[in-house]
Amino acid sequence: MSSPQTPQTTTQTGTPVASDAHSLSAGPDGAIALHDRYLVEKLAQFNRERIPERIVHAKGGGAFGEFVVTGDVSAYTRAAVFQPGARTETVQRFSSVAGEQGSPDTWRDVRGFSVKFYTSEGNYDIVGNNTPVFFIRDGIKFPDFIHSQKRLPGSGLRDADMQWDFWTLSPESAHQVTYLMGDRGLPRSWRHMPGFGSHTYQWINAEGERFWVKYHFDALQGNEEMSGEEAEAIAGADADYYRRDLYEAIERGDFPAWKVSVQVMPYEEAKTYRFNPFDLTKVWPHADYPKIEVGVHTLNRNPENFFAQIEQAAFSPANTVPGIDISPDKMLMARVFSYPDAQRYRVGTNYTQIPVNAPVAPVANYSQDGAQRHGFNSPSTPVYAPNSLGGPVADPAAAGAGSWESDGELVRAAATLHAEDDDFGQAGTLYRDVFDAAAKERFLATITGAVGSVQNADIRERAIAYWSSVDAELGAALRANLA
Ligand code: HEM
Repeated sequence: MSSPQTPQTTTQTGTPVASDAHSLSAGPDGAIALHDRYLVEKLAQFNRERIPERIVHAKGGGAFGEFVVTGDVSAYTRAAVFQPGARTETVQRFSSVAGEQGSPDTWRDVRGFSVKFYTSEGNYDIVGNNTPVFFIRDGIKFPDFIHSQKRLPGSGLRDADMQWDFWTLSPESAHQVTYLMGDRGLPRSWRHMPGFGSHTYQWINAEGERFWVKYHFDALQGNEEMSGEEAEAIAGADADYYRRDLYEAIERGDFPAWKVSVQVMPYEEAKTYRFNPFDLTKVWPHADYPKIEVGVHTLNRNPENFFAQIEQAAFSPANTVPGIDISPDKMLMARVFSYPDAQRYRVGTNYTQIPVNAPVAPVANYSQDGAQRHGFNSPSTPVYAPNSLGGPVADPAAAGAGSWESDGELVRAAATLHAEDDDFGQAGTLYRDVFDAAAKERFLATITGAVGSVQNADIRERAIAYWSSVDAELGAALRANLA
C-alpha cells in the first residue's frame, strides 16, 4: 500500500499499477496474461537498458565541477571561457582505454581525461589523457591500434603478441609506450594524476591573431602512483577502485582540483620549429614554451544518476568555441569526425539534447526531427536557409574560427620537413633524463614482464630492438633479463 511518504508505482505513462510482485494470471498458479501491460512494459523496458559501451574508454567515472580563470590569457584567445575572472560549469569523465565497462580500474593503461565546459558561447570539450603524447600520428591507424590492444577474435583473450607486434611495427609509439610502462601507467587515483589536451590546438585572439597551444592540468593533490603488485591486488579486490575513490572524496567534501595552464607557440614559429609541432607523439620542451597559468578546475558535485549523466555524456574534440580551433594534426582531424559519429550511434541522433550534453548557450539552426527529438524551434521559425523570414543567420565574425595555410598535392605520407621529426628521440629523453634511478629499475622490470609474455620469437626480438632504439643500455639490460 502506498502512503503519503511512499509514492505509488505507475506505468511509464503515469497510471497506477496493481502489483509490484504478481503478474496477472489465470488463477494463482495458471498461465500469465499477455495483456498484463505493466509486466510487458517492465520486461520490454528492461531489455533495452543497455546502450553500446564506448568503443574505447568504456570504463570510467566522472563528476560535475567548476572552472575559474585565475590568469590572463586574453592576449592569446578571445574565448569567453578563458577571459579573466570567468567561471564556467563543467562535467569531467575519467577512463581507462582498452578494458571493457566492468574491467578493473587498476589495469596498466593510459587514462582518459575529458572536460566539458558549458560556456556562454557553446560547449567546449577538452578530450585528453594523463599523458602528453599518443601511440600513433595518423588516425587511419587508430582502429588497428585499438584492435591490437583489445581481444583476439577467436579466444576473446587479450594478447601480448599482438600488442607488441603492433607497437614494434609502429615505432612512433615508443614515446607513449615509455609513459605507459613507466609509473604514469598506474596512477594512485584519478585525483592524483595530471591531464593533457595532448594535441596542439589553435587559439585566436580578439584581433584575429593565431597561436598554437597545448593544455596542461596539474593535480593540486599532487601526482601519485602505485606499484604493479599493488595495482594487481586491487584489480582483484575492487575493480571500481578509482570510481569509488572519486565518488567518496566528493561526497566527503574533499574536492579534487587541477591547475590549468597552456604552452603557447606563436603561429609563425610552427613552420621552422625543430620538429613538427603538430606531431602528437612529441612534447614541446618547457624550456622552449613555458607554461602560462589559465585557471583552476574543481570537481565538486557527484552525478545523481551514473547512466544519465556519465554514461550518456558525449565529449568531442569537435566541440570548439569562438577563439579556439583545431590544428593541422592528422589525428585531431580524424577525431573531429569520429566522436560525434560514435555518439550518434552509441547514444542516439539527438544526443546533444540530453541534459548532460545540452549547452547553456542557446541553440539556433535548421536541424530537424530524428529519433527521441526533444527540443524544437518555434513554429514560426523557417525550416530552411537562406530565408527572408528572420531565421538564424551564420555570422563568421561571431564564429571566431581559426585557419591555417596549406598547399601541396594530396598525398599519403608522413610529415618529415623538420630536422627532428624522428620516432625514438623523446622516448629516450623521457627514460634517461626524466625517470630517476628507481623509476628506471621499475621500468625495466615492467617491460621485462611485458615483453617476457610475448610468445613469438620474431616479435620478442623486435621488442628488444625497439627498446634498444629508445636507449642502447636499456635494450641490453632487457636482453639480459629475457635470456
Ligand atoms: C584518431 C585517433 C582517435 C580516434 C579515432 C578516437 C576515437 C574515439 C571514440 C570513437 C571514442 C568514444 C566516444 C564516445 O562513444 O563517446 C573515444 C573516446 C575517448 N578518446 Fe579517443 N580517439 C582517438 C584518439 C584519442 C587521443 C589522441 C586521445 C587523447 C589525447 C583520446 C582520448 C579519448 C578519451 C578521453 C575518450 C573518452 C571520452 C569520454 O570520457 O567519454 N582519443 N575515442
